[in-house]
Amino acid sequence: MHPDLTHLMAAATALHAGHADLRDFVAMGNDLVDGDYQRQDHPAQAVMCAQHWPDARPGDPLELATALRDAFVAAAPLAQWRYTYEGSKIDPDFIERFGCYCMIGSGGFWSSAQLSGYVVYMPPGLHYPWHQHPAEEMYVMLAGSAEFHLQGQPPQTLTAGQAVFHPSGVPHATTTHDDPMMAYVTWRNHLDIVPEWTDPGLR
Ligand SMILES: [Fe+2]
Repeated sequence: MHPDLTHLMAAATALHAGHADLRDFVAMGNDLVDGDYQRQDHPAQAVMCAQHWPDARPGDPLELATALRDAFVAAAPLAQWRYTYEGSKIDPDFIERFGCYCMIGSGGFWSSAQLSGYVVYMPPGLHYPWHQHPAEEMYVMLAGSAEFHLQGQPPQTLTAGQAVFHPSGVPHATTTHDDPMMAYVTWRNHLDIVPEWTDPGLR
């Protein structure tokens, strides 16, 4: 296996074991490599936004998050980046500036029946509109900061190491302001159903 992928799997496994919220969300622990995870190959497909990752900051509280940030950056040239919302009526600027690649799941380096795992990147000043999906979701911030919106809740701003949970089917949105953001996103249940915009006018 490519050393950058070995490193990525090790860094993700360490975060799953060492981050309490993530550990509770999906029991991945140290069984990741030997568990139900099958290696799969896809042609790499990079995007322009992959060149603009947020830097870790001195004093970011969780070394495991910083280590996974570094591993996702290193493996980025090997990934098949996604255009999740291509073909919808969203502004093409959003399609170009919103970055996501899959680590575990459809189009990712590994497949699993238990969970999907992605990295998401947003540059400063981008709004990821309201959307929902049947899968339950957890974001763990790896670098930068972003404002997270969940229907029925006040918005909250998260920085490296902090996590947010999105229940099944509940609309949510993300906004960056002065900082970029980078997050590790995991799904459980209903892994095969893609997100849809909450606003029917965007679909
Ligand atoms: Fe989501």
